[in-house]
Amino acid sequence: MRVRAFIVACFVLTSCDDHIIGEAGAEIVSGENVYDSNWAGVELLFVDYCDVCHSDGGSGGFDLHTTIAAELNGGDPYYVVPGDASGSAVWQAMTGTGALSTMPPTGVLETELIAHVEEWINDGAPQ
Ligand code: HEC
Repeated sequence: MRVRAFIVACFVLTSCDDHIIGEAGAEIVSGENVYDSNWAGVELLFVDYCDVCHSDGGSGGFDLHTTIAAELNGGDPYYVVPGDASGSAVWQAMTGTGALSTMPPTGVLETELIAHVEEWINDGAPQ
């Protein structure tokens, strides 16, 4: 169903080659990157925009991947609270809301990238 929604969105937007703004639950394409609406897709987004600091041993102080994966597999939800984007540290940092520093520190990402993470969390953070 999600693939079909994405294809419909492509027709509606008439162009599929760049910058498709996904509807809820659909994958998004930003430049050459395709981010699915599951953990693998969101993780790829983090690889592209966060890993320079948040991979193992980076200046961000923690590895987003192992930390979030551990949370999704039964740890205490903090970075990602399934079903509650605004209560999730990752979303707060990406939107610059709450007490956390804005992430990435160089400035917030494009709206559709933030919305993709937000929808994934609000959909229950499916793996
Ligand atoms: C240029 C380096 C850099 C990039 C890129 C970056 N971060 Fe960070 N991040 C940091 C540093 C340094 C800290 C710790 C200090 C602070 O909070 O300002 C941090 C802290 C955080 C925190 C707060 C942790 C806490 O609970 O205090 C979150 C959440 C976070 N980053 C998420 C992200 C996400 C998501 C991305 C990508 C969209 C990202 N960061 C990209 C450097 C970076």
